[in-house]
Amino acid sequence: MDKFVINGGRKLNGSVSISGAKNASLALMPATLLASGKYDLLNTPDLRDVTTMSKLLQSMGVTVERNGSTLSLNTFRVNRFEAPYEHVKKMRASIYVLGPLLARYGHAKVSLPGGCAWGPRPVDLHIEGMKKLGAKVDLDRGYIIAKAKRLKGARIAFNVSSVGATGNILMAAVLAKGTTRIDNAAMEPEITNLAEMLAAMGAKIHGIGTTSLEIEGVDELRPAAVATIPDRIEAGTMMIAAAMCGGTVRVGNVTPDHFASLTARLEDAGVGVTLGEDHVVIKAPRTIDAVDVTTAVYPGFPTDMQAQWIAMMTVSKGASTTTDTIYRDRFNHVPELIRLGADIEMKDNVAMIRGTKRLTGTKVMSTDLRASAALILAGLKAEGTTEVLRVYHLDRGYEAIERKLTSLGASIERVKGEEF
Ligand code: UD1
Repeated sequence: MDKFVINGGRKLNGSVSISGAKNASLALMPATLLASGKYDLLNTPDLRDVTTMSKLLQSMGVTVERNGSTLSLNTFRVNRFEAPYEHVKKMRASIYVLGPLLARYGHAKVSLPGGCAWGPRPVDLHIEGMKKLGAKVDLDRGYIIAKAKRLKGARIAFNVSSVGATGNILMAAVLAKGTTRIDNAAMEPEITNLAEMLAAMGAKIHGIGTTSLEIEGVDELRPAAVATIPDRIEAGTMMIAAAMCGGTVRVGNVTPDHFASLTARLEDAGVGVTLGEDHVVIKAPRTIDAVDVTTAVYPGFPTDMQAQWIAMMTVSKGASTTTDTIYRDRFNHVPELIRLGADIEMKDNVAMIRGTKRLTGTKVMSTDLRASAALILAGLKAEGTTEVLRVYHLDRGYEAIERKLTSLGASIERVKGEEF
């Protein structure tokens, strides 16, 4: 397990380019199971989660090749219809193969994901949705076993907005017989990216980019070349790094519309934000104002930016609250930030943060992806040396983060090792 050693207090200046969106790739890759042939997925980030999805698809007979940021997949020889526990336990998004396998091959066996670092994350909406589409679904020894001769269109109204369930049902419905309507669908940009890929493959989907999707099932789809959208969470993390550390940073290869809620809150905090068509320039303020934030489904403030926002608020002027309504227990970073000198009190799903003048470096341990990002941000700001242990969490979702931060002037080094 590697660790990062950060010497904090350096200003960040210059420009950085954002990679493709992890959460989009994890949906686009399994969508290739829906039609036999060769696909080019452009702008695919080189990350551990993408490698995990590649391995899962390879275990089913898909060939996967990387050429720069283009991932080429060939689905001619799919001969296994199972997502074993070994893959799913590493990455919950493996459940995305359920919909495509069921729709195209009529059966799928997918391990139940189990809990995650910050509590239970059910998949009931995925299962109920497949049942509504006419599948017979059984749970057997930790596996979802789903079968259907041909799925049938249905009306599905989610009581909770779910990115994963929307993507999975969408991938199942495109090959179903008849029309499916999904209400309270997730409208996160990653779902729109997926819907646009499916449309390019010949799917008939109305309402793309809204919370009501209507899908007229077709008999067959064809492969397509698709570009992955930029990663709005990586972009947001870099924007906060720039805001916290002083200096001026241009964050390039982004779609600013995708992080409008973050931009608005940054401006509330006094951060200089200049938006371009495909970039944003962040100018750090002298002091960061305290701003309350509550996470919500898109286009609200993303839960995936909650930890990073708290990291920034720990060095703000004044007191603020950060509330997570999506994942109420997603606060593993808080005790570690406190070890760096932050003043945070938790009450249920609300973090009450009193800004401190300085953080001081020490050893901290990351427990999940975005918590790790928050610790890196705090380490960049803290006086002295911060060691962030177990960075493999970070490698799941940030491509070459140390290289990107170093290019902006940060002192951050990866130390390879076993003992961390
Ligand atoms: C996706 C993202 C993750 C992000 C999350 C919320 C991917 C690979 N991951 O995760 O980074 O943090 O969206 O934006 O895209 N729920 C149920 N039953 C279900 C499914 C979800 O109750 O069957 C609940 C969850 O517990 C949670 C809420 O719905 O409270 C939203 O979760 P969901 O949008 O499904 O998250 P993921 O798709 O797993």
